[in-house]
Parts: sequence; C-alpha cells; structure tokens
Amino acid sequence: MAETTLDLRHLPKARAYAELQVHVDNVLEGIDDPIAEMATISALVHHAFGWLWTGFYRKVDPELLRVGPYQGTLGCLEIALGRGVCGAAAKERRTVIVRDVEEFPGHIACDARSRSEIVVPVFDARDEVIAVLDIDATTVGAFDDDDRVGLERIVARFRRR
Ligand code: SME
Repeated sequence: MAETTLDLRHLPKARAYAELQVHVDNVLEGIDDPIAEMATISALVHHAFGWLWTGFYRKVDPELLRVGPYQGTLGCLEIALGRGVCGAAAKERRTVIVRDVEEFPGHIACDARSRSEIVVPVFDARDEVIAVLDIDATTVGAFDDDDRVGLERIVARFRRR
C-alpha cells in the first residue's frame, strides 16, 4: 500500500489528478466506510495541491449540510441548503467553480484568506446528494475544468454505496 501523501504541484493538473486517483484507490483499497474515505480523500487532495481548505460537508437533513472530515483552519459547522457555494452545489446537484469569491453573492467566508473555491457534489448509488467536497484556495482563479473532472472522478467512489 502507498502510505504517504504526495505533493503533485510539479505536474500539469490533468496528470496530477490521474496520479492522485490511483493513489486514492490504492490507499483506500478494501475500505468501505464513508468517514474514513472522506478523511483520507481530504488529506490526500489537500496535500497534493497545497490548498487552503479541503473537506466535506455532509447532508444530514434535506435542508442542512454539516461539516465532515477536513484539512485546514476551522470550517463553518453548518450550512443551509442553497446558502453559500456549498449549499448552491448541493441544491443544484452540480459542481460550482467560483473564480473570485468576492463576485459570488452569498459566499460564506470561513477563512478570510480564501480567494477562489470549487464545490463538487457527492452522490450515492441512488443518485442522491449525500455530501459536497469543498476546496478553497488563496489565489483568484485557482480552479478549472481539470479540477472539476479530477475531483468528480475521485468522489464517484461514493456512488457504489
Ligand atoms: N465558502 C463556503 C463555506 C465553507 S468554507 O469555505 C470551509 C461556502 O460559501 O459555501
């Protein structure tokens, strides 16, 4: 088993995500536990790219997201569905990329250093949103379609449950 976190910042993003996917699959082989998987994915994604904040909000009620495993500074504990970038992604069931958080009305600032953000919905086998993966960066425009594709593939593992 590959047991270390990888720093993939020296690679073009698409390659970095291809390597990260293999690494996540190897580290989590045989694990069927959403908390362990979310915690491990948070750590690996966070350190692969050096993001400001990387983690999950779980849908604990039809109208409420609550923080799950994450890496970074203190995250907001709860977010109502439809509120902020996380609530928008969960409600609209699609990945939301915010190039500049100052241009997103209703953005929730958990850390004042956050400048851009991507939020990817996590689906289960019944195509229900069970969580979102939220990543914040300290630079404007840090996320693009390579991140969307790479992260949607990483969280696709939850569709088996
Ligand atoms: N910025 C998010 C809130 C969560 S924190 O960034 C960790 C949002 O607007 O939904």
